[in-house]
Amino acid sequence: MKKSPDPTRGFSPEIFAARRKRVLADLDGSALVLSSETDPSGGRHRPDRDLFYLTGVTEPGAVAVLRADGEDGDFVLFVRVRNAEEERWSGERLGPDRAGEMFGADTAYGSDVLSKRLPKLLAGAKSMYFRIGSESPLQSLVVGALQTARLQGARKGVGPYGIIDPGQLLDPQRLMKHPEELERMRSAASITVEAFAEMLGAVGQGVGEWELEGILDGAFRRKGGGGPSYPTIVGSGANACVLHYVENNCRMGDGDLVLVDAGAEADLYVSDVTRTFPVSGSFTAAQRAIYDVVLEAHDRAIEAIQPGVTVESIHHTARNVCIDGLLELGVLNGDKEKVIDTEAYKAFFPHQTSHWLGLDVHDVGDYAHSGASRVLERGMVLTVEPGLYFQGAVEGSASADDYVGIGIRIEDDVVVTAEGHEVLTAALPVSAEEIEGLVGGKG
Ligand code: GLY
Ligand code: MN
Ligand code: MN
Repeated sequence: MKKSPDPTRGFSPEIFAARRKRVLADLDGSALVLSSETDPSGGRHRPDRDLFYLTGVTEPGAVAVLRADGEDGDFVLFVRVRNAEEERWSGERLGPDRAGEMFGADTAYGSDVLSKRLPKLLAGAKSMYFRIGSESPLQSLVVGALQTARLQGARKGVGPYGIIDPGQLLDPQRLMKHPEELERMRSAASITVEAFAEMLGAVGQGVGEWELEGILDGAFRRKGGGGPSYPTIVGSGANACVLHYVENNCRMGDGDLVLVDAGAEADLYVSDVTRTFPVSGSFTAAQRAIYDVVLEAHDRAIEAIQPGVTVESIHHTARNVCIDGLLELGVLNGDKEKVIDTEAYKAFFPHQTSHWLGLDVHDVGDYAHSGASRVLERGMVLTVEPGLYFQGAVEGSASADDYVGIGIRIEDDVVVTAEGHEVLTAALPVSAEEIEGLVGGKG
Protein backbone atom coordinates (compact mmCIF):
# COMPACT_ATOMS: atom_id res chain seq x y z
CA MET A 1 0.00 0.00 0.00
CA LYS A 2 1.36 3.41 -0.94
CA LYS A 3 2.08 5.40 2.17
CA SER A 4 -0.17 8.40 2.59
CA PRO A 5 1.15 11.84 3.46
CA ASP A 6 -0.50 13.77 6.26
CA PRO A 7 -3.70 15.17 4.68
CA THR A 8 -3.63 18.16 7.04
CA ARG A 9 -0.20 19.15 5.67
CA GLY A 10 1.35 19.14 9.13
CA PHE A 11 -0.87 21.86 10.61
CA SER A 12 -1.60 21.59 14.34
CA PRO A 13 -5.11 20.19 14.96
CA GLU A 14 -5.76 23.06 17.39
CA ILE A 15 -5.62 25.52 14.50
CA PHE A 16 -8.54 23.86 12.71
CA ALA A 17 -10.46 23.52 16.00
CA ALA A 18 -9.97 27.22 16.79
CA ARG A 19 -11.21 28.24 13.33
CA ARG A 20 -14.30 26.08 13.72
CA LYS A 21 -14.96 27.56 17.14
CA ARG A 22 -15.02 31.05 15.67
CA VAL A 23 -17.29 30.01 12.83
CA LEU A 24 -19.63 28.14 15.18
CA ALA A 25 -19.89 31.25 17.34
CA ASP A 26 -20.79 33.31 14.24
CA LEU A 27 -23.35 30.84 12.84
CA ASP A 28 -26.08 32.12 15.13
CA GLY A 29 -28.52 29.29 14.55
CA SER A 30 -27.55 28.67 10.94
CA ALA A 31 -25.75 25.67 9.45
CA LEU A 32 -22.63 25.61 7.25
CA VAL A 33 -22.10 22.97 4.56
CA LEU A 34 -18.70 22.64 2.86
CA SER A 35 -17.61 20.03 0.39
CA SER A 36 -14.70 18.87 -1.70
CA GLU A 37 -16.08 17.84 -5.06
CA THR A 38 -14.76 14.90 -6.97
CA ASP A 39 -13.32 15.73 -10.39
CA PRO A 40 -15.32 13.77 -12.98
CA SER A 41 -12.47 14.12 -15.52
CA GLY A 42 -10.21 12.10 -13.22
CA GLY A 43 -7.60 14.86 -12.97
CA ARG A 44 -5.51 15.49 -9.88
CA HIS A 45 -7.86 16.46 -7.08
CA ARG A 46 -7.76 20.11 -6.00
CA PRO A 47 -8.95 20.14 -2.37
CA ASP A 48 -11.62 22.67 -1.52
CA ARG A 49 -9.84 25.52 0.23
CA ASP A 50 -12.64 26.45 2.65
CA LEU A 51 -13.15 22.83 3.71
CA PHE A 52 -9.40 22.40 4.25
CA TYR A 53 -9.17 25.68 6.14
CA LEU A 54 -11.82 24.65 8.67
CA THR A 55 -11.18 20.93 8.98
CA GLY A 56 -7.91 19.84 7.35
CA VAL A 57 -9.94 17.45 5.16
CA THR A 58 -8.64 17.09 1.60
CA GLU A 59 -10.31 13.88 0.41
CA PRO A 60 -12.46 14.15 -2.71
CA GLY A 61 -16.16 13.82 -2.03
CA ALA A 62 -15.97 14.87 1.64
CA VAL A 63 -18.76 16.99 3.13
CA ALA A 64 -18.65 18.82 6.47
CA VAL A 65 -21.69 20.19 8.28
CA LEU A 66 -21.17 22.69 11.09
CA ARG A 67 -24.01 23.69 13.32
CA ALA A 68 -23.86 24.67 16.97
CA ASP A 69 -25.61 22.03 19.09
CA GLY A 70 -26.64 20.11 16.00
CA GLU A 71 -28.31 16.73 16.21
CA ASP A 72 -25.01 14.86 15.77
CA GLY A 73 -22.76 17.47 17.35
CA ASP A 74 -21.17 20.71 16.15
CA PHE A 75 -19.06 19.14 13.40
CA VAL A 76 -20.41 16.28 11.28
CA LEU A 77 -18.24 14.79 8.55
CA PHE A 78 -19.18 12.60 5.59
CA VAL A 79 -16.43 10.78 3.69
CA ARG A 80 -16.39 8.04 1.10
CA VAL A 81 -16.84 4.56 2.58
CA ARG A 82 -14.02 2.07 2.25
CA ASN A 83 -14.25 0.00 -0.94
CA ALA A 84 -11.44 -2.39 -1.82
CA GLU A 85 -12.21 -2.44 -5.54
CA GLU A 86 -12.40 1.35 -5.93
CA GLU A 87 -9.37 1.89 -3.70
CA ARG A 88 -7.43 -0.42 -6.01
CA TRP A 89 -7.96 2.17 -8.76
CA SER A 90 -7.79 5.48 -6.96
CA GLY A 91 -5.91 4.85 -3.74
CA GLU A 92 -6.62 4.31 -0.09
CA ARG A 93 -9.50 6.10 1.60
CA LEU A 94 -9.66 6.97 5.24
CA GLY A 95 -13.24 5.83 5.71
CA PRO A 96 -15.60 7.41 8.27
CA ASP A 97 -14.08 5.93 11.44
CA ARG A 98 -10.50 6.98 10.82
CA ALA A 99 -11.51 10.32 9.29
CA GLY A 100 -13.75 11.19 12.23
CA GLU A 101 -10.91 10.56 14.64
CA MET A 102 -8.22 12.25 12.54
CA PHE A 103 -10.17 15.47 11.96
CA GLY A 104 -11.93 15.69 15.32
CA ALA A 105 -15.50 15.35 14.00
CA ASP A 106 -18.27 14.83 16.54
CA THR A 107 -19.87 12.31 14.18
CA ALA A 108 -18.53 10.80 10.97
CA TYR A 109 -20.68 9.03 8.37
CA GLY A 110 -20.11 7.40 5.02
CA SER A 111 -21.16 9.57 2.07
CA ASP A 112 -23.66 6.85 1.19
CA VAL A 113 -26.00 8.12 3.92
CA LEU A 114 -25.57 11.81 3.08
CA SER A 115 -28.89 12.21 1.29
CA LYS A 116 -30.71 10.67 4.23
CA ARG A 117 -28.88 12.50 7.02
CA LEU A 118 -28.50 15.96 5.51
CA PRO A 119 -32.15 17.10 5.72
CA LYS A 120 -32.19 16.10 9.38
CA LEU A 121 -28.98 18.00 10.08
CA LEU A 122 -30.33 21.12 8.40
CA ALA A 123 -33.89 21.00 9.78
CA GLY A 124 -34.77 24.09 11.76
CA ALA A 125 -31.56 25.95 10.93
CA LYS A 126 -32.08 29.69 10.51
CA SER A 127 -30.20 29.78 7.18
CA MET A 128 -27.66 27.70 5.35
CA TYR A 129 -24.17 28.76 4.40
CA PHE A 130 -23.43 26.90 1.18
CA ARG A 131 -21.65 27.79 -2.07
CA ILE A 132 -24.07 27.71 -4.97
CA GLY A 133 -22.76 27.44 -8.49
CA SER A 134 -21.74 23.88 -9.16
CA GLU A 135 -23.85 21.27 -10.87
CA SER A 136 -22.90 18.83 -8.14
CA PRO A 137 -25.34 16.31 -6.66
CA LEU A 138 -24.64 17.96 -3.30
CA GLN A 139 -26.15 21.22 -4.53
CA SER A 140 -29.39 19.44 -5.40
CA LEU A 141 -29.31 17.76 -2.01
CA VAL A 142 -28.81 21.03 -0.16
CA VAL A 143 -31.51 22.82 -2.12
CA GLY A 144 -33.80 19.81 -1.64
CA ALA A 145 -33.00 19.76 2.08
CA LEU A 146 -33.79 23.46 2.25
CA GLN A 147 -37.15 22.88 0.61
CA THR A 148 -38.01 19.91 2.83
CA ALA A 149 -36.85 21.60 6.00
CA ARG A 150 -38.69 24.77 4.98
CA LEU A 151 -41.92 22.86 4.49
CA GLN A 152 -41.60 21.30 7.91
CA GLY A 153 -40.11 24.37 9.53
CA ALA A 154 -42.83 26.72 8.36
CA ARG A 155 -45.32 24.87 10.50
CA LYS A 156 -43.14 25.53 13.53
CA GLY A 157 -42.18 29.04 12.51
CA VAL A 158 -38.51 28.28 11.89
CA GLY A 159 -36.22 28.46 8.82
CA PRO A 160 -34.12 27.81 6.90
CA TYR A 161 -34.80 31.13 5.22
CA GLY A 162 -32.04 31.18 2.65
CA ILE A 163 -28.68 30.17 1.34
CA ILE A 164 -25.70 32.44 2.05
CA ASP A 165 -22.21 32.11 0.59
CA PRO A 166 -19.77 30.71 3.21
CA GLY A 167 -17.31 33.43 2.22
CA GLN A 168 -19.24 35.82 4.43
CA LEU A 169 -18.01 33.84 7.46
CA LEU A 170 -14.71 32.48 6.20
CA ASP A 171 -13.14 35.18 4.02
CA PRO A 172 -12.35 37.57 6.90
CA GLN A 173 -10.66 34.73 8.82
CA ARG A 174 -8.72 33.48 5.80
CA LEU A 175 -7.40 36.96 5.11
CA MET A 176 -5.37 36.94 8.35
CA LYS A 177 -2.60 34.38 8.09
CA HIS A 178 -1.53 32.32 11.10
CA PRO A 179 2.24 31.85 11.59
CA GLU A 180 1.86 28.21 10.49
CA GLU A 181 0.30 29.40 7.23
CA LEU A 182 3.13 31.89 6.73
CA GLU A 183 5.60 29.00 7.10
CA ARG A 184 3.96 27.27 4.13
CA MET A 185 3.94 30.52 2.16
CA ARG A 186 7.67 30.96 2.87
CA SER A 187 8.25 27.44 1.52
CA ALA A 188 6.23 28.18 -1.61
CA ALA A 189 8.17 31.42 -2.08
CA SER A 190 11.57 29.82 -1.66
CA ILE A 191 10.75 27.02 -4.14
CA THR A 192 9.70 29.72 -6.61
CA VAL A 193 12.85 31.77 -6.06
CA GLU A 194 15.10 28.73 -6.63
CA ALA A 195 13.16 27.72 -9.73
CA PHE A 196 13.43 31.24 -11.23
CA ALA A 197 17.19 31.30 -10.61
CA GLU A 198 17.49 27.96 -12.41
CA MET A 199 15.34 29.15 -15.31
CA LEU A 200 17.24 32.42 -15.80
CA GLY A 201 20.35 30.41 -16.64
CA ALA A 202 18.55 28.81 -19.59
CA VAL A 203 17.46 32.05 -21.25
CA GLY A 204 18.87 32.77 -24.68
CA GLN A 205 18.03 33.71 -28.26
CA GLY A 206 15.95 31.05 -30.00
CA VAL A 207 14.96 29.30 -26.78
CA GLY A 208 11.23 28.52 -26.67
CA GLU A 209 8.98 30.19 -24.12
CA TRP A 210 7.73 26.71 -23.41
CA GLU A 211 11.22 25.62 -22.38
CA LEU A 212 11.29 28.21 -19.59
CA GLU A 213 7.79 27.11 -18.56
CA GLY A 214 9.00 23.50 -18.46
CA ILE A 215 12.01 24.36 -16.29
CA LEU A 216 9.87 26.31 -13.83
CA ASP A 217 6.99 23.87 -13.59
CA GLY A 218 9.40 20.93 -13.36
CA ALA A 219 11.40 22.64 -10.63
CA PHE A 220 8.23 23.42 -8.69
CA ARG A 221 7.58 19.67 -8.45
CA ARG A 222 11.21 18.59 -8.21
CA LYS A 223 11.74 20.82 -5.20
CA GLY A 224 8.79 19.28 -3.40
CA GLY A 225 6.04 21.77 -4.26
CA GLY A 226 2.60 20.83 -5.48
CA GLY A 227 3.26 22.28 -8.94
CA PRO A 228 2.40 25.69 -10.38
CA SER A 229 -0.16 27.76 -8.46
CA TYR A 230 -1.65 28.93 -11.80
CA PRO A 231 -0.72 28.49 -15.47
CA THR A 232 2.83 29.81 -15.90
CA ILE A 233 3.13 32.88 -18.13
CA VAL A 234 6.25 33.23 -20.31
CA GLY A 235 5.74 36.16 -22.68
CA SER A 236 8.61 37.29 -24.88
CA GLY A 237 8.54 40.51 -26.88
CA ALA A 238 5.03 41.86 -27.43
CA ASN A 239 3.53 38.71 -25.83
CA ALA A 240 4.47 40.33 -22.51
CA CYS A 241 1.76 42.92 -23.16
CA VAL A 242 -0.97 40.25 -23.08
CA LEU A 243 -1.72 40.13 -19.37
CA HIS A 244 -2.95 36.54 -19.26
CA TYR A 245 -0.76 35.12 -22.04
CA VAL A 246 -0.42 31.39 -21.42
CA GLU A 247 0.27 29.90 -24.87
CA ASN A 248 4.04 30.15 -24.31
CA ASN A 249 4.65 28.92 -27.86
CA CYS A 250 7.06 31.49 -29.35
CA ARG A 251 10.82 31.51 -29.49
CA MET A 252 12.68 34.35 -27.82
CA GLY A 253 14.38 36.90 -30.04
CA ASP A 254 17.73 38.50 -29.26
CA GLY A 255 16.44 41.97 -28.47
CA ASP A 256 13.31 40.78 -26.66
CA LEU A 257 12.35 41.20 -23.10
CA VAL A 258 10.74 38.15 -21.49
CA LEU A 259 8.08 38.51 -18.81
CA VAL A 260 7.77 35.43 -16.61
CA ASP A 261 4.91 35.22 -14.11
CA ALA A 262 4.89 31.97 -12.15
CA GLY A 263 4.66 30.58 -8.64
CA ALA A 264 4.90 27.27 -6.85
CA GLU A 265 2.30 25.85 -4.53
CA ALA A 266 3.50 24.27 -1.29
CA ASP A 267 1.13 22.45 1.08
CA LEU A 268 -1.81 24.11 -0.70
CA TYR A 269 -0.41 27.63 -0.17
CA VAL A 270 0.74 29.63 -3.17
CA SER A 271 3.30 32.13 -4.37
CA ASP A 272 3.05 34.51 -7.32
CA VAL A 273 6.17 36.12 -8.77
CA THR A 274 7.00 38.08 -11.90
CA ARG A 275 10.38 39.05 -13.28
CA THR A 276 11.10 40.65 -16.66
CA PHE A 277 14.53 40.34 -18.21
CA PRO A 278 16.39 40.90 -21.50
CA VAL A 279 17.09 37.78 -23.58
CA SER A 280 20.48 39.15 -24.63
CA GLY A 281 21.53 39.84 -21.05
CA SER A 282 21.45 43.61 -21.56
CA PHE A 283 18.51 46.00 -21.53
CA THR A 284 18.27 48.47 -24.42
CA ALA A 285 18.01 52.12 -23.37
CA ALA A 286 14.24 52.14 -23.99
CA GLN A 287 13.70 48.88 -22.08
CA ARG A 288 15.85 50.11 -19.21
CA ALA A 289 13.95 53.40 -18.97
CA ILE A 290 10.66 51.56 -18.50
CA TYR A 291 12.22 48.95 -16.21
CA ASP A 292 13.50 51.69 -13.90
CA VAL A 293 10.03 53.25 -13.65
CA VAL A 294 8.35 49.91 -12.85
CA LEU A 295 11.04 48.99 -10.33
CA GLU A 296 10.71 52.35 -8.59
CA ALA A 297 6.92 51.84 -8.40
CA HIS A 298 7.47 48.33 -7.01
CA ASP A 299 10.00 49.48 -4.40
CA ARG A 300 7.99 52.51 -3.24
CA ALA A 301 4.78 50.46 -2.96
CA ILE A 302 6.51 47.76 -0.88
CA GLU A 303 8.13 50.38 1.37
CA ALA A 304 4.68 51.83 2.08
CA ILE A 305 3.24 48.54 3.36
CA GLN A 306 2.53 48.56 7.08
CA PRO A 307 -0.46 48.13 9.37
CA GLY A 308 -2.88 51.04 9.22
CA VAL A 309 -2.47 52.05 5.56
CA THR A 310 -5.08 51.17 2.97
CA VAL A 311 -4.61 48.74 0.12
CA GLU A 312 -5.77 51.54 -2.19
CA SER A 313 -2.94 53.79 -0.97
CA ILE A 314 -0.43 51.10 -1.97
CA HIS A 315 -1.89 51.11 -5.48
CA HIS A 316 -1.84 54.90 -5.58
CA THR A 317 1.82 54.95 -4.57
CA ALA A 318 2.75 52.63 -7.46
CA ARG A 319 0.43 54.38 -9.89
CA ASN A 320 1.83 57.82 -9.05
CA VAL A 321 5.43 56.67 -9.56
CA CYS A 322 4.42 55.24 -12.94
CA ILE A 323 2.65 58.46 -13.92
CA ASP A 324 5.68 60.57 -12.89
CA GLY A 325 7.95 58.31 -14.92
CA LEU A 326 5.72 58.36 -17.99
CA LEU A 327 5.40 62.15 -17.82
CA GLU A 328 9.17 62.45 -17.61
CA LEU A 329 9.63 60.18 -20.62
CA GLY A 330 7.02 62.18 -22.54
CA VAL A 331 4.75 59.16 -22.90
CA LEU A 332 2.08 61.02 -20.94
CA ASN A 333 1.59 64.74 -21.26
CA GLY A 334 0.03 67.54 -19.27
CA ASP A 335 -1.03 67.90 -15.71
CA LYS A 336 -0.58 64.92 -13.34
CA GLU A 337 -3.96 65.45 -11.64
CA LYS A 338 -5.63 65.44 -15.06
CA VAL A 339 -3.85 62.19 -15.98
CA ILE A 340 -5.25 60.69 -12.77
CA ASP A 341 -8.76 62.12 -13.31
CA THR A 342 -8.99 60.98 -16.92
CA GLU A 343 -7.24 57.68 -16.15
CA ALA A 344 -5.00 58.26 -19.18
CA TYR A 345 -2.31 56.17 -17.42
CA LYS A 346 -4.52 53.07 -17.76
CA ALA A 347 -3.44 52.77 -21.40
CA PHE A 348 -0.09 51.61 -19.96
CA PHE A 349 -0.89 50.44 -16.40
CA PRO A 350 -4.31 48.80 -16.73
CA HIS A 351 -4.42 46.62 -13.61
CA GLN A 352 -4.32 46.96 -9.84
CA THR A 353 -1.04 46.77 -7.93
CA SER A 354 -2.08 44.09 -5.45
CA HIS A 355 -4.29 41.14 -4.68
CA TRP A 356 -4.52 38.98 -1.58
CA LEU A 357 -2.54 35.76 -1.58
CA GLY A 358 -2.95 32.56 0.45
CA LEU A 359 -4.64 29.25 -0.28
CA ASP A 360 -5.77 30.82 -3.57
CA VAL A 361 -3.75 33.01 -5.92
CA HIS A 362 -6.38 35.70 -5.99
CA ASP A 363 -7.16 34.93 -2.40
CA VAL A 364 -10.43 35.64 -0.63
CA GLY A 365 -11.20 38.83 1.25
CA ASP A 366 -12.81 42.17 0.44
CA TYR A 367 -10.69 45.07 -0.75
CA ALA A 368 -13.19 47.66 0.45
CA HIS A 369 -15.98 48.04 2.98
CA SER A 370 -18.91 50.38 2.32
CA GLY A 371 -16.84 52.13 -0.32
CA ALA A 372 -13.79 52.62 1.92
CA SER A 373 -10.57 50.83 1.02
CA ARG A 374 -9.48 48.09 3.41
CA VAL A 375 -6.88 48.97 6.00
CA LEU A 376 -3.89 46.61 6.11
CA GLU A 377 -3.47 44.54 9.25
CA ARG A 378 -0.73 42.29 10.53
CA GLY A 379 -0.98 38.83 8.98
CA MET A 380 -2.42 39.86 5.62
CA VAL A 381 -0.44 38.76 2.55
CA LEU A 382 -0.62 40.65 -0.72
CA THR A 383 1.25 40.88 -3.99
CA VAL A 384 2.90 44.05 -5.25
CA GLU A 385 2.98 43.92 -9.04
CA PRO A 386 3.08 47.19 -10.95
CA GLY A 387 3.47 46.86 -14.71
CA LEU A 388 3.74 49.01 -17.83
CA TYR A 389 2.72 47.67 -21.22
CA PHE A 390 3.08 49.22 -24.69
CA GLN A 391 0.97 47.00 -26.90
CA GLY A 392 0.75 49.40 -29.81
CA ALA A 393 0.39 53.03 -30.77
CA VAL A 394 -1.60 55.08 -28.27
CA GLU A 395 -3.67 58.02 -29.39
CA GLY A 396 -2.27 61.29 -28.10
CA SER A 397 1.08 59.80 -27.15
CA ALA A 398 3.62 60.00 -29.95
CA SER A 399 6.42 59.04 -27.56
CA ALA A 400 4.71 55.74 -26.71
CA ASP A 401 5.85 54.59 -30.17
CA ASP A 402 9.42 54.45 -28.87
CA TYR A 403 8.39 51.70 -26.49
CA VAL A 404 5.99 49.59 -28.56
CA GLY A 405 6.38 45.89 -27.80
CA ILE A 406 7.72 46.46 -24.29
CA GLY A 407 5.82 44.84 -21.43
CA ILE A 408 7.33 44.89 -17.95
CA ARG A 409 5.88 43.69 -14.66
CA ILE A 410 7.73 43.07 -11.41
CA GLU A 411 5.87 41.11 -8.73
CA ASP A 412 6.69 40.05 -5.18
CA ASP A 413 4.72 38.60 -2.28
CA VAL A 414 4.54 40.65 0.91
CA VAL A 415 3.30 39.92 4.46
CA VAL A 416 2.08 42.76 6.65
CA THR A 417 3.98 42.46 9.95
CA ALA A 418 3.60 44.31 13.25
CA GLU A 419 6.49 46.59 12.32
CA GLY A 420 5.84 46.96 8.61
CA HIS A 421 6.31 44.16 6.11
CA GLU A 422 8.29 41.09 5.09
CA VAL A 423 8.92 40.31 1.42
CA LEU A 424 8.55 36.53 1.10
CA THR A 425 10.20 36.50 -2.32
CA ALA A 426 13.01 38.97 -1.52
CA ALA A 427 15.74 36.43 -2.28
CA LEU A 428 15.05 36.72 -6.02
CA PRO A 429 17.12 39.61 -7.45
CA VAL A 430 15.20 42.48 -8.93
CA SER A 431 17.66 45.25 -9.78
CA ALA A 432 18.36 45.73 -13.49
CA GLU A 433 22.06 44.94 -13.06
CA GLU A 434 21.47 41.77 -11.05
CA ILE A 435 18.85 40.56 -13.51
CA GLU A 436 21.21 41.17 -16.44
CA GLY A 437 23.89 39.27 -14.57
CA LEU A 438 21.74 36.17 -14.12
CA VAL A 439 20.47 35.77 -17.68
CA GLY A 440 21.95 32.97 -19.75
CA GLY A 441 23.96 31.46 -16.90
CA LYS A 442 26.17 34.50 -16.41
CA GLY A 443 25.39 34.55 -12.69
N1 GLY B 1 -0.32 35.45 -11.88
C1 GLY B 1 -1.56 36.06 -11.64
C2 GLY B 1 -1.41 37.40 -11.10
O1 GLY B 1 -0.32 37.92 -11.04
O2 GLY B 1 -2.35 37.99 -10.65
MN1 MN C 1 -0.34 38.39 -8.93
MN1 MN D 1 1.54 36.91 -11.09
